[in-house]
Amino acid sequence: MAVKKITIAGAGTMGHAMAEIFARKGYQVVLWNHREEGLNRARVLISSDVSGLIEYTVSDEAFRERDLIVECIAENLPLKLSFYSRISDLVSDNCIIATNTSGLSINKMAAAVRNPERFLGMHWWNPPTLIPLIEIIRNEHTRDDVVKTVYDLSLAIGKKPAVIKKDVPGFAGNRIQLAVIREVLAMVRDGVVTPEDADAVIKYGLGFRWACIGQLESLDLGGIDTFYRISEYLMPDLETSPEIPELIREKYEKNEFGIKTGKGFYDYSGEKGREAVAARDRKLKAVMKALYEDGQ
Ligand SMILES: NC(=O)c1ccc[n+]([C@@H]2O[C@H](COP(=O)([O-])OP(=O)(O)OC[C@H]3O[C@@H](n4cnc5c(N)ncnc54)[C@H](O)[C@@H]3O)[C@@H](O)[C@H]2O)c1
Repeated sequence: MAVKKITIAGAGTMGHAMAEIFARKGYQVVLWNHREEGLNRARVLISSDVSGLIEYTVSDEAFRERDLIVECIAENLPLKLSFYSRISDLVSDNCIIATNTSGLSINKMAAAVRNPERFLGMHWWNPPTLIPLIEIIRNEHTRDDVVKTVYDLSLAIGKKPAVIKKDVPGFAGNRIQLAVIREVLAMVRDGVVTPEDADAVIKYGLGFRWACIGQLESLDLGGIDTFYRISEYLMPDLETSPEIPELIREKYEKNEFGIKTGKGFYDYSGEKGREAVAARDRKLKAVMKALYEDGQ
């Protein structure tokens, strides 16, 4: 299935960046938003060298005769369901429809899509211009050739796809991330480490290694016999609470959301927030260059 004509639905944080990525790679991109203000914001954010290649629109005509629609509207199931019902009659039969949901059920959404076998999750990571991973999530009916088309397309735009074969909450990436968050926050809560030292353990140890080899490669290189013995004494000691972690709840109740409110585990007042994002992006670009400069 050849993909040339792509509509990105939703021009927010994720959608405008995807439009930029596809346009830069030569795809015919329409960026649709339900309100004009969102498109105006996107026009400012999208790099000027590709902005002119993108068609910006609030018209539902954007969904006719496309090869792929990537839905990036707000993370709200009723909203997404009504979006799919509304566009269903406009979309041609062979158009692939993908959702960028962070974790809503792909199967539930598929039920609102005409021909659900051409529907799947295409979960990008923020910032989409810098993080290589795209999770591709099947629903119960997704056709193999649809998965393959989105997989190959992800490679063609320089991304690193991973197929998630079952629609489980959080897919793979957020399940792993939340398991780490639960343990890190339990250790900070119990006074085992400060937030700074917890982050040092990730940045200079685990995360540094994870950028180069995955967890299972790491088990093989470290020795499964050793991890057998570590598992024996450590598994019973790990945090297993099913509740929202206390420190997340506390910060949430105090409106300490992180960079967007100026305070989270760290202080982002004044220029500190802007500097933190710039430092993150500089480092991500350097790692990307070091690991994948040759496009491999
Ligand atoms: N931001 C992230 O880190 C991130 C990462 C991966 C996936 N996602 C997912 O991507 C999707 C979009 O997230 P975002 O961060 O770009 O959100 P955002 O808030 O920046 O943008 C949401 C978009 O939805 C549109 N919208 C709002 N109400 C609407 C309505 N009634 N009808 C149609 N469109 C409407 C807005 O105009 C906006 O363009 C969500 O499903 C989110 O979970 C976000």
